[in-house]
Amino acid sequence: MRIDIITCLPRLLDSFFEHSILKRAQEGGHVEVVVHDLRDYSLNKQRQVDDYAFGGGAGMVLTIEPIARCIRKLQSERTYDEVIYVTPDGERLNQKTSNRLSLTENLIILCGHYKGVDERVRTHFITKEISIGDYVLSGGELAACVIADSIIRLIPGVLNDETSALTDSFQDNLLAPPVYTRPADFEGWKVPDILLSGHEAKISDWRFQQSLERTQARRPDLLP
Ligand code: ADE
Repeated sequence: MRIDIITCLPRLLDSFFEHSILKRAQEGGHVEVVVHDLRDYSLNKQRQVDDYAFGGGAGMVLTIEPIARCIRKLQSERTYDEVIYVTPDGERLNQKTSNRLSLTENLIILCGHYKGVDERVRTHFITKEISIGDYVLSGGELAACVIADSIIRLIPGVLNDETSALTDSFQDNLLAPPVYTRPADFEGWKVPDILLSGHEAKISDWRFQQSLERTQARRPDLLP
């Protein structure tokens, strides 16, 4: 899989993809993340990529020319499954969307900034708009990292123990059950006996029950 991220703050993203699972995923050949500096596609001497909004109003708007140049160059090199724009007014990200996107071949993620992008970018280039929640960030970079992270860890083979993604919260519309590790008794706070019993079927039933109770208590909206 390949993910191309277009941003005017490339250095913010570079460090994020150089660590832990994301680094291993790239070294293992599961994914290639390529960050593009939007300013490299500006024809302006000052490498400007934004301008005042027509009609007035506060805030700068990302212009269409550098974005069009960058997206068209990428699209001339390969076919993209989606051209994603991260924006607070997009469709809210959930595990189902991440699962689907983890099975695609090539993705572009465009990070917004300032007051957003010229609407014609959204109309003519963007195929999917995603928000990571009902709050406004100062730019789309963090949102792009969140989306890429949630996708990359789901690519088959990326996690060491593949079943660990299968038991994530939200994977079956259920929150994950509680987990424990050694010591079995910390100052009298004990691990549930069932987990020490070695009885696999009973442990599995217990975990499912715990997931169900936790989901009912915390996120009843997830249950049918
Ligand atoms: N850009 C700014 N805020 C955002 C959000 N909540 N989700 C996605 N992109 C954003």
